[in-house]
Amino acid sequence: MNTDLLLAPVHSFLHCRTPQAWIDEASKPENLPLLLTDHLVCELKAAQTAMWLIRKYVADKESGETLLTWLKPWEQFVHSETVSLEFLQQHKGLSKAIISRTDVEYGDLLVDKMVLLIKEELHHFWQVMEIMQARNIAYMKITASRYAKGLLREVATYEPLTLVDKLICGAYIEARSCERFASLAPYLDDELAAFYVSLLRSEARHYQDYLALAVQIAPSDIALRVRKIGETEAKLITEPDNELRFHSGVPAW
Ligand SMILES: [Fe+2]
Ligand SMILES: [Fe+2]
Repeated sequence: MNTDLLLAPVHSFLHCRTPQAWIDEASKPENLPLLLTDHLVCELKAAQTAMWLIRKYVADKESGETLLTWLKPWEQFVHSETVSLEFLQQHKGLSKAIISRTDVEYGDLLVDKMVLLIKEELHHFWQVMEIMQARNIAYMKITASRYAKGLLREVATYEPLTLVDKLICGAYIEARSCERFASLAPYLDDELAAFYVSLLRSEARHYQDYLALAVQIAPSDIALRVRKIGETEAKLITEPDNELRFHSGVPAW
């Protein structure tokens, strides 16, 4: 895989690279359980965000309920720590079609992109879980990083800009994940490095899908919004942070 080609648009979209201080901290073997756990939860959050967008903006009522039911076992697992993992085997795919409301112009497009994204993120969740199990890393609840909350503070409070801004935030989160997987891979053991490199293609596509949706749905040019949210994103990555997470800033300790 030509990762340079894949990463070029990601790097030009992001306003900064991951600081070396974060890579040094994140690649310490003692931090691996924390990092994998946060990665696991991030995969579910990515799926939940996509589900939320479909339910809020385009799905008919019945399809919305189907999506909720589909994700519930994963949510129960991360909240309770105790639910059996057997559900993962039984819920490998969403077989029912999601119907978008006829009054939403961009409905089918958003559903198509987001359903694919949900399936891929849940597959990643399962892959991370398998790695954790193989390494005897038990899942434990951890607090969320400041990153997503910090980004969402930028989101406009009126439609259609709320949706457009949320899509731009989605693009930044996916692009940063992609950049971080690539930055961290050379410092990890072979198995993990290969896994992280294998995620680059889908995360790069997710960022492009989010951005393309934002462009299509926005009533006017989004360049200024993209720049503003990009600046905030870069601050969250380059400013000191008190805890290590997959999307945390520069370690302050
Ligand atoms: Fe993912
Ligand atoms: Fe993704």
